[in-house]
Amino acid sequence: MVPTPLAPSATDPLWWRDAVIYQIYIRSFADGNGDGTGDIEGVRAHLPYLRDLGVDAIWFTPWYPSPLADGGYDVADYRNIHPAFGDLAGAEALIQEALALGIRTIIDIVPNHISNEHEWFKAALAAGPGSPERERFWFVESETMPNHWVSNFQGETWTQVPDGEWYLHLFTPEQPDLNWNHPDVRREHEDVLRFWFDRGVAGVRIDSAALLIKDPALPEVPENPGPGEHPNTDRDEVHDVYRSWRAVADSYPGTRVLVGEVWMPDTKRFADYLRPDEMHTAFNFDFMARPWNAAELRESIDSMLAAHAPVNAPSTWVLSNHDVTRPVTRYGREDSSFAFAAKRFGTPTDLVKGTRRARAAALLSAALPGSLYIYQGDELGLPEVDDIPLREDPMHFRSNGVDPGRDGCRVPLPWSGDAPPYGWGGTPWLPQPGDWAPLTVDAQQHDPASMLSLYRAALELRRSTAALGDGDLAWTESAPDVLAFQRGDFVNVTNLSAEHVALPAHKKLLLTSEPLVNGELPPDSTAWLRV
Ligand code: NOJ
Repeated sequence: MVPTPLAPSATDPLWWRDAVIYQIYIRSFADGNGDGTGDIEGVRAHLPYLRDLGVDAIWFTPWYPSPLADGGYDVADYRNIHPAFGDLAGAEALIQEALALGIRTIIDIVPNHISNEHEWFKAALAAGPGSPERERFWFVESETMPNHWVSNFQGETWTQVPDGEWYLHLFTPEQPDLNWNHPDVRREHEDVLRFWFDRGVAGVRIDSAALLIKDPALPEVPENPGPGEHPNTDRDEVHDVYRSWRAVADSYPGTRVLVGEVWMPDTKRFADYLRPDEMHTAFNFDFMARPWNAAELRESIDSMLAAHAPVNAPSTWVLSNHDVTRPVTRYGREDSSFAFAAKRFGTPTDLVKGTRRARAAALLSAALPGSLYIYQGDELGLPEVDDIPLREDPMHFRSNGVDPGRDGCRVPLPWSGDAPPYGWGGTPWLPQPGDWAPLTVDAQQHDPASMLSLYRAALELRRSTAALGDGDLAWTESAPDVLAFQRGDFVNVTNLSAEHVALPAHKKLLLTSEPLVNGELPPDSTAWLRV
């Protein structure tokens, strides 16, 4: 196949350094065929919505054939599309139609594990102990469980098959881990990258990027592993994988980017993934996990910018994704930080306060140096849905129902109408709340005070303000609990205090997340100024 070039409007080689990237959880975005499951046709029909929102790229969570044991992060075939979402021809058309509107497409690559329905795993089970087919995975012959590694979804990481061998899965048993010491595994993934780059994809988001390499001795996790000493996370050899992926990406015209999902408290180890011959960017989860508190956020901004500087990579700014509690809910709670282990049903939430803070955070994050991620529905101010009767997420089941899981942030988007299904044809795969009529796109798009209008205005200003996007910031003098910084002739002021604060001298008030009160910025709000 002749590699598809990117659109002429999209030839800036540094596009990724300040791009606004919209995350599409395809099952829940828009329904093209009326069966209650979002699909590629639904996305194609709503590309003008994304253009009008002002995004530079869309990132699709996995859209491949999959039993959906983990929302598609259990891939059965990396070179095709799940029939419920459409087909390959539809995906190819979508990529081109989006490019024609100036929107690049990023897809999700899941290299750590595959589905137990993938041909490789089926062949490994059939071929039996000692077979070459099993060497692509971590099969171990052992009377007892080979070790006590704990799954990222709680519980055990080993499952025994009928012939007595055990196989490793850092997530669910339906997601067997691949053995990255095996040349087939490396070759296959490089081929998959080429398959999608040939189709005009502008980048890949790399799932669980730090987990690929395991200590082949499979030892227990030491009590306090030092850097690179954990037996299944952030091992030094993993960087070789991304160096070879970078070489594949760089062999294509236009910049094809590698974006890592790297959860890493050690910011130096995090930045190692962003060295010039590895990934382009990685998700900045530190900022996302911080509570709504000026000192905490400032500390995060400073430490993440400092971590990125030595490798000359831009930071990313992320308020949420398909795994975490929606911002309007999180910021409306007494503890507004995010931690997977702390998620519980029925946490008291003040959605009015949370929405106000989420508006302020939307402007703050869009003003910081680097690229920006927006998770579908955050631009509508959707809350986390707590009362879903039938849950799908293994994080919920594997916690014995203690953890609500991630279904609450994956509810199908409300497009129009006064009641569910809000513009969806059939019954949506997850039920939508009855009180979302004011949150539909139709209800918000002509209301200048809506979350959607705020996002549109912010992204338009971000695009037209040269000082925004990539670059530096300088903190300026401000009242306590206020985040004020300058970038060229642009100033951001975010008031996290309980007081109204005066704005610095300015030429023009560009945008505020709340109306000013007697010329002052009220609590939990952001102002953008030209100075
Ligand atoms: C991270 C993904 O974002 C999440 O949704 C998934 O469950 C795990 N990786 C495992 O693939």
